[in-house]
Amino acid sequence: MDANGTRDSITVTDNRTGQSYELRITDGTVQARDFRQMKGHEGDFGLMVYDPAFGNTASCRSSITHIDGDIGVLEYRGYPIEELAEKSTFLETAYLLLYGELPTQSQSDEWVNNITYHTYVHEKVKRFMEGFHHDAHPMGMLVGTVAALSTFYTEAKDVMDARSREIQTHRLIAKMPTLAAFTYRHNRGLPYVYPDNDLTYTENFLSMLWKMSEPQYKPDPVLVRAIEALWILHADHEQNCSTNAMRSVGSSHADPYSATAAAAAALYGPLHGGANEAVIKMLSRVGDKSRVPAFVKAVKRGEDLLWGFGHRVYKSYDPRAKIIKRAADAVLERMGPSPLLEIAVELERIALEDEYFVERKLYPNVDFYSGIIYQALGFPVDMFPVLFAIPRTAGWLAQWREMIEDEEQKIARPRQVYVGAPRREYVPVGQR
Ligand code: CMC
Repeated sequence: MDANGTRDSITVTDNRTGQSYELRITDGTVQARDFRQMKGHEGDFGLMVYDPAFGNTASCRSSITHIDGDIGVLEYRGYPIEELAEKSTFLETAYLLLYGELPTQSQSDEWVNNITYHTYVHEKVKRFMEGFHHDAHPMGMLVGTVAALSTFYTEAKDVMDARSREIQTHRLIAKMPTLAAFTYRHNRGLPYVYPDNDLTYTENFLSMLWKMSEPQYKPDPVLVRAIEALWILHADHEQNCSTNAMRSVGSSHADPYSATAAAAAALYGPLHGGANEAVIKMLSRVGDKSRVPAFVKAVKRGEDLLWGFGHRVYKSYDPRAKIIKRAADAVLERMGPSPLLEIAVELERIALEDEYFVERKLYPNVDFYSGIIYQALGFPVDMFPVLFAIPRTAGWLAQWREMIEDEEQKIARPRQVYVGAPRREYVPVGQR
């Protein structure tokens, strides 16, 4: 019974047998396993629940990120994303995601110190990266190199050791910007720049990207703040495709470098973290505001997607897109106007008035405007998913740690509905 005296259960009648079952409802969910007791006949395996792509299946209990997709709410550990994006720093938000509370001053100092201490990578990691082709996609390089880190930190395999989990967490968060910056310098044939530990996390990233012969790189504070805000927005998003990959691979007790590489690989796809790259390509293809109506018609005919629109969970405006749109103004004021912004704004205006998008509740998502900012900041398009992977590493690790410590979790192993050939005999090749 709940507080109102209502029974927290449902009754299901199996019409094959006429038998009724009472299933408990906990936190708005029923246990899929409870359906197994429903058997159509003696020896039946029991009912399973079919849910391709997990459209309506909760795979874990989590206290990290809360989304209410109908009204566009996103909170990390209870804090609204709008407040964090305005007032917090990326590293402070990463701490919040990982440990559940905002740090005190001394916790913050220790945290920042730990991350700063681990920003360097082994020289052999650098040499490993030098082996990539000159025009290798930066995200491919990142995925491969993060996986390779597991060969440098073999103690990371001991995932049940809390101290080891802590050190790998520091290393991964600290080294991601270094690896990301190395991919950029590699593509340009520029010498890799080592971390400058006198700079903040974000400043140091910009220094590793853009420092040339000056003794110390001096980043523009307006741009640093824009990146901090973007990285806060991208730090976690509960059980999305890449986080699901992190948890799934981590559930076999693979080390966190291998699991993070798997998560980054999932992020690479254009339906996920590769969407901001696809948005810029789409806006460039459209080319001019006057061609927006024709493009929208082509999308409605199913010839293209309106990239950066739509979301599995948000059926209203993605709160992150709202914040990014505002941040774009500050960046463009500093860097000069973006010809693509005008096309994007027109696309949004026309789509939001169009029945096709209204009916399907398709609104701009986080990727619709983030690419415009990244491009204005001077990042090449193929770096965009890498810029997403850096902050999302904090979320992946928070989710991985929660999963490891969760006694309800086991190795992830979905079931299937077999629809293939029935049992048959092997036919020798000459008789086929
Ligand atoms: N443009 C045109 N039609 C769309 C779009 C779009 N961007 N997104 C969904 N639809 C249509 C879809 O064809 C379907 O129509 P119908 O009902 O006639 O078959 C309907 O809207 C429902 O879409 P869905 O494919 O069932 O939705 P989903 O939850 O499976 O997919 C999505 C979510 C994000 C993969 C999808 O909206 C999409 O492909 N968007 C474009 C790619 C994109 O921007 N991805 C970034 C997601 S946010 C950042 C992140 O998580 O990485």
